[in-house]
This record gives sequence, C-alpha cells and structure tokens, in this order.
Amino acid sequence: MSLTFKIRKTFVVSQSILFIHIISPSLDDAILVFRQQELKNSFSMQAKMPPCDFSPEKYESYPYEHMLKIRKQNLSPALLTCYKKPLLLHQGHMQWLFDYEGRRYLDLFAGIVTVSVGLFLTTHRKVTAAAQKQLGRLWHTSNIYMHPSIQEYVEKLTALLPDPLKVVYLTNSGSEANDLAMFMARLYTRNFDFICFRHRGGYHGASPYTLGLTSIGSYKHGVANGFGCQTTMLPDVFRGLWGGSHCRDSPVQTIRKCSCSQGCCEANDRYIEQFNDTLSTCVPKAIAGFIAEPIQGVNGAVQYPKRFLKEAFRLVRERGGVCVADEVQTGFGRTGSHFWGFQTHDVVPDIVTLAKGIGNGFPMAAVITTSEIANSFAQNLHFNTFGGNPMACVVGSAVLDAIAEDGLQKNSEEVGTYMLLEFAKLRDEFEIIGDVRGKGLMIGIEMVKNKDSRQPLPVEEMSQIWENCKDMGLLIGRGGLYNQTFRLKPPMCITKQDADFAVKVFHAALMRHLQETAI
Ligand SMILES: Cc1ncc(COP(=O)(O)O)c(C=O)c1O
Ligand SMILES: *[C@@H]1O[C@H](CO)[C@@H](O)[C@H](O)[C@H]1NC(C)=O
Ligand SMILES: *[C@@H]1O[C@H](CO)[C@@H](O)[C@H](O)[C@H]1NC(C)=O
Repeated sequence: MSLTFKIRKTFVVSQSILFIHIISPSLDDAILVFRQQELKNSFSMQAKMPPCDFSPEKYESYPYEHMLKIRKQNLSPALLTCYKKPLLLHQGHMQWLFDYEGRRYLDLFAGIVTVSVGLFLTTHRKVTAAAQKQLGRLWHTSNIYMHPSIQEYVEKLTALLPDPLKVVYLTNSGSEANDLAMFMARLYTRNFDFICFRHRGGYHGASPYTLGLTSIGSYKHGVANGFGCQTTMLPDVFRGLWGGSHCRDSPVQTIRKCSCSQGCCEANDRYIEQFNDTLSTCVPKAIAGFIAEPIQGVNGAVQYPKRFLKEAFRLVRERGGVCVADEVQTGFGRTGSHFWGFQTHDVVPDIVTLAKGIGNGFPMAAVITTSEIANSFAQNLHFNTFGGNPMACVVGSAVLDAIAEDGLQKNSEEVGTYMLLEFAKLRDEFEIIGDVRGKGLMIGIEMVKNKDSRQPLPVEEMSQIWENCKDMGLLIGRGGLYNQTFRLKPPMCITKQDADFAVKVFHAALMRHLQETAI
C-alpha cells in the first residue's frame, strides 16, 4: 500500500524518535511516529552523483584562508558572497564544477544562467577551440575596420530572429545592452517614459540608466536614478493578487484554483486592467517603451498569464511605445519549446536584448532591432571599443553551432520538463514548497511557510536548505524579493540522470531541514 501525504512539521521527541505531523486526504491531520533510523533509511534516498570521467588539475594557488583575506581586503565590499563558507572554484567540466580541494558539484546555476552550452563538453571543446584559434590570429581590432568574424556572426544570429529584427549592435554586458535599448527607444519615439514591472520586480541591470528598470530595493542606492521609469504591477500568478489553475505556459500550474473556462483567464484580465491603469495615470499619452523578461530571471522564474505580454504590447504600441524583450536569461533555447522566450508569448518585440548565455561565459551581449529603429539612431555617431570584437564573435558563433549540433534546445525541453514534473511531485509532498514553475531549463521553486498563507519561507530556513544542497554537491541559485525562490538554470547539456540527482538531493535537503527545525 502506498500513502501520499504532506509533511507539515516534524517534532523530535527524543534522540531516536520523531513525530511527523502530516496532512493526508485519507487520515486527515495525523501524527506519525518514526524511529529516526527508519526515517533516515526511508527518506534520505541515497543521492548518488552521476559519474564523471574528468579529473581536475591540482589546485596550486594560495591557501583558502588567504584567498578569503584578499577578497575581503581588495575587492568591492559590496560583493555578494554565497554560502557561509564561500566556495573557491577552480575548474569546470560540462555541467560540473570542482573546488580547490577537488570536490565536484553539479552546477544548476551556470554562473548565473550564463554557461549555456557547458564547460569543456564536446560542444564546449568546439567553443574553446574556436576561441584559441582566434587568440592566435587576431584578438582585437575595433569595429571601424571589417574583420570576418563579425559579419559571419551577425548573419548567423539574425537568421534565428523573425523579421523585422535584423540589425545587431554588439555590446559587452547585459546592462549595456539594456541601456542602449532604452536610449534607442527614446530617440526613435521621441518620447521619454518607460514601463517596467514593480512587485519583487524585474532585473535589467545595475548601470545608472537601467537601475531605473530594476525593481529590487537591495540594488538601489540613494542617488537620483530612473528618470522616466514607471513601474507597474507584476502579473505574478502565484504570489500576486490574482492567479489560477491554468494561467501560465508551463507543465506545472499554481496550486491556486480558478473557475475560468477554457480560453478565459480572469487573472490576465485583472492584471491587464492594472497595466492599463498605469498607462492612464502615471505616464503621458505617448511613451517610449516597455521592457519585460519573457520569464523573470532574478525574481525566480515568475511567469505571467499566457496572453499578458501580447495584450500589454498592443496597449504600449497604441501609445507610440516600443516593446523590448530582455532575453538575457531566456534566450538561446533555454525555454525548450522555442529559441527565444518572446516566441512563447506569440509576440514579436521591436527590440531584443541578449547577454549571459550568448557567449557561454565570454563577456559579450547584443541588442537586435528593426532597421527603422536603427536608422533613427544613426543621426549621430555611436561607438563601442570592444563591442563585436573578433574573440566575442567567434565565441558567439561557436555557441550557436553548439546549440544546434548538440540539440541543446531539445534537451532543455526534455530534461527541463522532466525536472519540472519531478519537482512538482515534491511540491505536492511538502507543505513548504509553494510553487514549482518555469519552462525548459528555466525553473523556479518558491518556498513558503505553508501553502494556505503563501507567506515566504523565512530567509534563515531558505539558507539552511540551500547550504544542505551545497553540502551534498548541488549548486542552485536563489531569487525573489524575500530570497524565497530557488532558481535552477543549469547549462543546457545536463541529463535526466543529473535531474534525478538534483531532485534526490533537494528532497534530502528538505528532510534534513525539517529534522533540524523540528521543535
Ligand atoms: C534579465 C537580465 N537583464 C540584464 C542583466 C544585466 O546583465 P549584466 O550583468 O551582464 O550587465 C541581467 C543580469 O543578471 C539579467 O538577469
Ligand atoms: C484602458 O483604459 C482606457 C481609459 O481608461 C479605456 O478606454 C480602455 O478601454 C482600457 N483598455 C483596456 C484593454 O482595459
Ligand atoms: C536577499 O538577498 C540579498 C542578497 O543576498 C540581500 O541583500 C537581501 O537583504 C536579502 N533579503 C532578505 C529579506 O533577506
């Protein structure tokens, strides 16, 4: 006989006995008694790391403590450092990272959604080989001259975009790309105001210009910024005011219920009303544009109702604005079903910005727009020393080849969907997993105190689970305003075996956490 139940709370009674308070449809609320040992055997499913035949080089730099000291003394004190004992990583192979002691980790955060095709995989070997070849040929000549790789690259890149998105500006970072997108939108429309999401908002960069679009208090500084940036309600169908049981484009829907009939989405209509309200009350009749990520990154894979972007784009265009899709995290096949995130919303933006995965970790980014918008930006000069340098262009080209040749978009879809459905089972089992969402290998797991309140799980508890995962060899990211969402956005070369390992480790980390917090 098998029994499914949700674990609400564990109570340690003695060293060897544990009570588990469960909610089960067949037993109502009940307390089960386990012997600790039995529990360990039944729950801490042995998570065995999938094999890897690569051995890292010996670490030969400074001792750990000395590295820590230099980081504290000579690097920005505002750096974000993960984990109580920060990781000192030394080498990478495919989806694996090795620390200074040779410990192996499954990397499900990919250097913040950046290692797109993996490190030193067959695919990556091609990327590395392309970079090495170019290193020996020509590192740099600015784009005032022609060099072959820039033409070769933009031809390949634009072939992947729908008309009329055919003009590429190459930059060095995502912030720089979004800066340029805003600037172009303002020049083209001759309007000023930009709409972006509030409420545990979007992240579009930390440059003085883009900071206005980034709605996360911890990145703000007490200086004037964000002129003309107007925030609007985030259509978050899990935590927001409205949401239901079939709002989003994901194999996993929220736990919220709704009675919408097929083809209707009450939540979408309410959120569009709010969007329209921002347009009527916060900005002039004519605006410069609207920026959104197709699925939010830093905010933990928040997905909007299916029709939201399509309707929002229409309202923005009615007011003369252009629509910018920030594909910095969602691009290059990560969402599985499509190469670009905007395609999953059935829209064609006027401007698309790319970074992170575009270079598998090489610093490069891009803005792609229509020739009409580009021409309006050609009245005066625009220059960028490193943008489109030969190294970036050959790397970018090799990344596109790797995605195509190794079927990484398809792999994102298959492994991502599998992983989403497996994590959804954990959500049904554990009271503290509020939501599992995403598409392809862009996955969020939002943690709550309990499902009824949807209150965020306190940050100390999040940290404990996060540390537990790391201790078992699994690196995952965190996001959301309360840091309440785990982010899984691995290199797109991961396998189902890796996914199984991740699910088992996460399960064991939760079990350990429940035991540790038991009263
Ligand atoms: C969606 C999104 N846009 C833009 C950026 C900014 O990119 P960069 O850090 O390369 O400036 C980021 C970075 O995290 C991002 O996640
Ligand atoms: C948006 O608001 C305007 C003005 O209040 C109204 O006329 C229009 O019908 C609204 N559109 C939508 C889609 O709600
Ligand atoms: C969330 O994490 C960020 C970065 O670590 C930190 O600055 C912020 O204070 C955290 N928020 C909460 C509510 O803990």
